[in-house]
Amino acid sequence: MACGFRRSIACQLSRVLDLPPENLIKSISAVPISRKEEVADFQLSVDSLLGNNDYSRPDIQVQATQLAEKLKCDTVVTEISTGQGTVNFKINRELLTKIMSRKKFNHFRTITVLKQVIEDGSKYGLKSELFSGLPQKKIVVEFSSPNVAKKFHVGHLRSTIIGNFIANLKEALGHQVTRINYLGDWGMQFGLLGTGFQLFGYEEKLQSNPLQHLFEVYVQVNKEAAEDKSVAKSAHDFFQRLELGDMQALALWQKFRDLSVEEYIRIYKRLGVHFDEYSGESFYREKSQEVLKLLDSKGLLQKTIKGTAVVDLSGNGDPSSVCTVMRSDGTSLYATRDLAAAIDRMDKYNFDTMIYVTDKGQKRHFQQVFQMLQIMGYDWAKRCQHVPFGVVQGMRTRRGDVTFLEDVLNEIRLRMLQNMASIKTTKELENPQETAERVGLAALIIQDFRGSLLSDYQFSWDRVFQSRGDTGVFLQYTHARLHSLEESFGYGYLDDYNTACLQEPQSVSILQHLLRFDEVLYRSSQDLQPRHIVTYLLTLSHLAAVAHRTLPIKQSPPEVAGARLHLFRAVRSVLANGMKLLGITPVCRM
Ligand code: ARG
Repeated sequence: MACGFRRSIACQLSRVLDLPPENLIKSISAVPISRKEEVADFQLSVDSLLGNNDYSRPDIQVQATQLAEKLKCDTVVTEISTGQGTVNFKINRELLTKIMSRKKFNHFRTITVLKQVIEDGSKYGLKSELFSGLPQKKIVVEFSSPNVAKKFHVGHLRSTIIGNFIANLKEALGHQVTRINYLGDWGMQFGLLGTGFQLFGYEEKLQSNPLQHLFEVYVQVNKEAAEDKSVAKSAHDFFQRLELGDMQALALWQKFRDLSVEEYIRIYKRLGVHFDEYSGESFYREKSQEVLKLLDSKGLLQKTIKGTAVVDLSGNGDPSSVCTVMRSDGTSLYATRDLAAAIDRMDKYNFDTMIYVTDKGQKRHFQQVFQMLQIMGYDWAKRCQHVPFGVVQGMRTRRGDVTFLEDVLNEIRLRMLQNMASIKTTKELENPQETAERVGLAALIIQDFRGSLLSDYQFSWDRVFQSRGDTGVFLQYTHARLHSLEESFGYGYLDDYNTACLQEPQSVSILQHLLRFDEVLYRSSQDLQPRHIVTYLLTLSHLAAVAHRTLPIKQSPPEVAGARLHLFRAVRSVLANGMKLLGITPVCRM
């Protein structure tokens, strides 16, 4: 919908400014709705049009005024005014709500807000001209990437939900997305595990609860190895055997990995997350040896007196910057394996963009990996991007610090069930466990996505689950309420309605807000920050709550009731779309 209005404004501007409308569209944005009723709907930023950002320049205001004077109201725009460095446009109120006759507004015929929302369904906002001409890209998103037998900590949880959001968004925009989980499935921990399992492992426990059992074995063997040199030695030998490709050792390792992946798949499913590929560091054991040879042949590998090898990265501004890529025994390191993995993925997927999602502690690591790829002559290194996020403190479950993803999910479910039991409005549910899990996950995701991804925050279960205020519980509650509204009045109403009935400020605010969805998606697609969508959905829910309270359906004439139901249906549709992008499954009852 926004597209029609924005384009129409751009066309008028294009005549006055003698610029193609395509160049103007992105400078026109919907005005965020405000409590004041009479605000403009769209604004043109004169600054962004002229490509400068100096808001203090006095002539900007003059230019805005001059431009506004040259523009005329028409069938679409009913009011033109100026703001701070902007020209503001108010859209014909009738057009905002009503379906136009073919003759009068030819190209707006079908593109009124409500109709567009319903018609476009899950594609609403994505068909906007803000995304038009967007080439379809091949995008690899690597996220979650826990380490087998080690803790699945909060950082992995964040990576999982953020990566899933980025992948969802890119996919929704029409890109071809490959989701990769790059497991920490190699290294000395497997030497310890191999030895530990022979000492105190149980086959049945491994089969029934592999993640838990491997972790237990790992903790115990670590302790033993610290006290008993022979255990440490045997762990070292086991890893050596693995590195050398010993069949028996590899078979045990393979079993650990397979059982773990099987378990991960099951748990990610509870989260609503899937991967196209479970890769891991182990895949690049041999390939990283090739990378070392390649680095050497290019004269980039420097041996140190300790027998290790490094790549000099001082050419990038930091004179002390080197990256170690080989241990003294000739084996590879984390960074070496990342080089091999990136090269392999380029071969395999020929990606246009590759995104890595990890905590900000790995910022330097990825910088160095990308720099090394660059000096190796891989110009596509520029297509690699690290999306860092901040640290979450204080997330604990009943079992203590977060060790397993499943504990977090169980904790969420349990707490939410308790919450639901204490709320009087809770409905009789067919599957309370599932609902609790979905609502609880929404709460967790919204709490995490509310701020900038890069900021650290202190975790609090109480804050997560507040049903009032800006939480995921509130979003789910709004969705469920709107759904039951539709259910109780039936869909029959929707055939007989007149959207011209939606003239109250509450309705107009909602329509204006719906109009902005594409811009919010656009903003998130630019900076990969989910918070724009979160804020948008929370506002939408607040607006819906007000409208729900003040615009009755039952006592209204059918025309009005139908129009209102239609409005609520549109809200629910956009709410659901946004929630799904964030990785939330909307519930219909709670
Ligand atoms: N397994 C690593 C960790 O837990 C994260 C892997 C990130 N991805 C990568 N390509 N290095 O810290």
